Amino acid sequence: MAVGETTNGHGNSPTTAAQKSVIVTGGASGIGLAMASYFAAEGHNVAILDVNSSGAQVARDLAAAYPRSSVAFHQCDVSSWDDQAAAFKTVYERHGGRLDVVMANAGVSEQGVTTVVNLLEDEPSEPRLKSVQINLFGVVYCERAPYPLPPREALEERTSCHNSM
Ligand SMILES: NC(=O)c1ccc[n+]([C@@H]2O[C@H](COP(=O)([O-])OP(=O)(O)OC[C@H]3O[C@@H](n4cnc5c(N)ncnc54)[C@H](O)[C@@H]3O)[C@@H](O)[C@H]2O)c1
Repeated sequence: MAVGETTNGHGNSPTTAAQKSVIVTGGASGIGLAMASYFAAEGHNVAILDVNSSGAQVARDLAAAYPRSSVAFHQCDVSSWDDQAAAFKTVYERHGGRLDVVMANAGVSEQGVTTVVNLLEDEPSEPRLKSVQINLFGVVYCERAPYPLPPREALEERTSCHNSM
């Protein structure tokens, strides 16, 4: 079991046809927690990826509330490619070689602050890129991180969807 990971004991159970293998990034609170709760209530295998270690208790609580599901927490900073690729690989393997749903939800907002550059400074300072790394890079990594790649047919279907946008 990876560092920071917790599960209700069913984390290794193969995902059945009716059960989805689900990843929710930023699932320790807010909208992500609501998403994780929904999928757990439906009996799916849910992996919460979050930088906040409170996700461990959240996973335990959801697993206790919805025993037909499995819920695991993986400590993961989505702005880190290495973190995210490793977490996706672990989830894929623990869910019996499946990954059906990925909710790329983790993000930060800094309302009222000029997050990237401050044009009012006398002397220009280095742009603050952390929110870009989380909100943009984190989602791009999410798109590429599933390991190994899904079957070619699924990939072609997904690519044709993207191309039609
Ligand atoms: N709540 C809103 O009104 C609103 C509006 C527009 C967009 N959003 C976006 O929706 C998403 C969820 O919003 P929310 O209100 O539930 O926010 P929230 O702060 O309650 O939850 C965000 C979760 O993401 C996690 N997180 C933050 N940085 C992370 C990182 N680097 N790696 C992994 N996890 C990380 C946090 O620990 C937290 O659990 C965010 O991306 C937010 O920007 C929210």
